[in-house]
Amino acid sequence: MTSIDSTPFGELPDGTVIEKWTLTAASGAAVSILTWGATIQSVLVPDRDGTLGNVTLGFAGLAGYLDPANPYFGSTIGRYGNRIAGGTFTLDGQTHKISQNEGQTALHGGVRGFDKRVWSAARADGGVRMSYTSPDGEEGFPGTLETSVTFTFDDEHRLRIDYRATTDRATVVSLTNHAYWNLTGEGTGTINDHLLRINAEHYTPIDEDLIPTGAVTPVAGTPFDFRDFHPIGARLRDADQQLGYGLGYDHNYVLAGREAAVVRDPRSGRQLTIETTEPGLQFYSGNFLDGKLRGVSGRQYRQGDAFALETQHFPDSPNRPDFPSTVLRPGDTYGSTTIHTFTTFA
Ligand code: GLA
Repeated sequence: MTSIDSTPFGELPDGTVIEKWTLTAASGAAVSILTWGATIQSVLVPDRDGTLGNVTLGFAGLAGYLDPANPYFGSTIGRYGNRIAGGTFTLDGQTHKISQNEGQTALHGGVRGFDKRVWSAARADGGVRMSYTSPDGEEGFPGTLETSVTFTFDDEHRLRIDYRATTDRATVVSLTNHAYWNLTGEGTGTINDHLLRINAEHYTPIDEDLIPTGAVTPVAGTPFDFRDFHPIGARLRDADQQLGYGLGYDHNYVLAGREAAVVRDPRSGRQLTIETTEPGLQFYSGNFLDGKLRGVSGRQYRQGDAFALETQHFPDSPNRPDFPSTVLRPGDTYGSTTIHTFTTFA
């Protein structure tokens, strides 16, 4: 049985206490989540020898999370994971302007997304449920969005994240978590040797602003083909324009089934399997990490020191009627589930 406890992690300038909730499995493996941004702060799991290591990037204290340079380490992302072109979309004939935080683009919910909000936490379903009410018009999005994200972690080392949301006005929503993984351990170097398999025959190519062009392109014969295991770094420097735009991988995959991806680290013997109900997966190879941030262990995070696999609807769907819909209407419930399973191999 998982034990659950909470401790103060820090204080906001206005005195609000940020809590750290820790879910600990029988083995000692543990996941910690902050009420700031419903953020996964640490994931301690065993390697092939049974030694626990923290496999997610993060900061030791709250100051790191409040710093605008924090690139969404472990954050819950909302209301809209990834990009909305021009920070604008039209729904039911009405045009909405979302706060732009990457040139003209709205990325990860705008200037102050769900990653920069205080969530309230309570025990639920054997884990912790984080709740946040986003007022009508926040960051430009229509509708009051009642949101909850429930984290559970069991003795099989399954980290399950259940997202729910309801609205009082038609809106768009796509929630995800932006954990950065390094299965050797955070701060140990690049993930170029990690072996990745993604269950996708197609991906959505991007333009120079990292916005999907609208095309849905076969991965076959490209560096985007991860249908069989490939080292993440093997094709990173191929002369491919898509890799040029992203400074590496920063692309949405069109998932072909519930098992989205498997990552194997030959060094530690750790393996991560990701299952999801979502149609898309953003594979980001940590391209914008530049050595300026210091993580939990005090080490610098440089380019390629971690990867993210963000389960989601496709980027810019509010402007792409041909992509799976992200519209949520009053009376309907948005639901999304992603399970991260940590195992080992010899
Ligand atoms: C997502 C985006 C990337 C980058 C990171 C955060 O993965 O697709 O382009 O913005 O978030 O740095």
